[in-house]
Amino acid sequence: MALTATAFEWVCTLVRRESAIVLEAGKEYLVESRLVPLARAAGATDVSAYVDGVRIRPDRKAQTAIVEALTTNETSWFRDGAPFTAFSTAVVPALKQARASARSIRIWSAACSTGQEPFSLGMLLADSLLSEGWRADIIATDLSTEVLDKARAGRFSQLEMNRGLPAPLLVRHFTRVGTQWQVNDSIRKLVQFQQLNLTSSFAGLGQFDVVFLRNVLIYFDLETKRSILAKVRKALRPGGYLFLGGAETTLGVDEGWDRELIGRVSVHRPKNGGQA
Ligand SMILES: C[S@@+](CC[C@H](N)C(=O)[O-])C[C@H]1O[C@@H](n2cnc3c(N)ncnc32)[C@H](O)[C@@H]1O
Repeated sequence: MALTATAFEWVCTLVRRESAIVLEAGKEYLVESRLVPLARAAGATDVSAYVDGVRIRPDRKAQTAIVEALTTNETSWFRDGAPFTAFSTAVVPALKQARASARSIRIWSAACSTGQEPFSLGMLLADSLLSEGWRADIIATDLSTEVLDKARAGRFSQLEMNRGLPAPLLVRHFTRVGTQWQVNDSIRKLVQFQQLNLTSSFAGLGQFDVVFLRNVLIYFDLETKRSILAKVRKALRPGGYLFLGGAETTLGVDEGWDRELIGRVSVHRPKNGGQA
């Protein structure tokens, strides 16, 4: 049976409340296909029956599983290329001057999915600042505990490795374990994973020199985007850098940012160096 309107609306409300992700009318098929495995595992006759069961007898674990099933976790190594080139050719050299006395930088990969983004940053730092005796901490967060478990394990299939990882980096930073590839400890120890909902407070995270907040704002409404960008501004050190996804911008959303073009990439920096 097709997903009922009641089940669809209940799922949309739950997902929006818990993650801020907006599921518009017309996404019934997406909801149904993502929830089929959960319905099957629960022994329900179909997705509507499964959703009705959770709706009538509230079950926290099942609700979390539904929200996580509706996050889109698409990612790859050095995704889109240009932001990572801008990071290593312009941002890292600039930070080398700005942070010369501390010789230490902090980076946040917000909405890190299965870890390719923070590990890509770690590999770039291993070949630059770290080899010169600097310290780098990468904090990687996501809403979904399922993707975080995979990221923490640092193991990837051949198919995942084929998505954007240059062969020399595979050889240098990964070890084959059966049919999978394990990221080496030298890179893995740079990244600290933790669960964080972007709608919650960022107060406990500390301050960052660079934030990668890529390919996640697209799922939120304008008000949520604005509130997240305002919190990110406060989490950046004066003169810090924000990288967004190719389809995302601060323009018309939060006016507290200057935009700087580095190569083909628009990098966002708090106005007045963050002192406004
Ligand atoms: C498409 S992935 C982007 C991964 C990576 N940043 C990239 O660009 O390749 C979006 C990620 O955002 C996470 N996400 C969705 N809503 C979130 C929220 N409210 N708080 C934190 N993370 C969220 C999802 O779990 C998913 O892993």
